[in-house]
Amino acid sequence: MTNPVDMNPYRHHILLCTGRYCDPAGRAAALYALLPRLLGELGHYDNPCRVKRGTTPCLGVCSGGPLLVVYPEGIWYHHVDETLLQQIITEHLEEGRPLWQHVFHQLEQPGTACPKEPTP
Ligand code: FES
Repeated sequence: MTNPVDMNPYRHHILLCTGRYCDPAGRAAALYALLPRLLGELGHYDNPCRVKRGTTPCLGVCSGGPLLVVYPEGIWYHHVDETLLQQIITEHLEEGRPLWQHVFHQLEQPGTACPKEPTP
């Protein structure tokens, strides 16, 4: 099968919530602005471990921000500051070791069936 879109693959996709409910002080936007420098080579187009970064207006949590989600693992971090962001980049994205003490949620793994609601 040929890929209809020509693109170098990503290893990870990270999303920062920039909504004001989980982060009333607006710190996530400042963290997002740091990412090009903090990611360094992980942001380079030719890096096989490159990271796609993005923002989202809400993750449906609305507390405990700044919130950061890492895909494909579906790992959700709370209260992210610059120190933790640097640790996430180094330990999770580069070395594959999530910082579980800062994680509050992980998505079900792909392919996991959703339980059906019982019919009344
Ligand atoms: S505003 Fe960030 S999770 Fe809703």
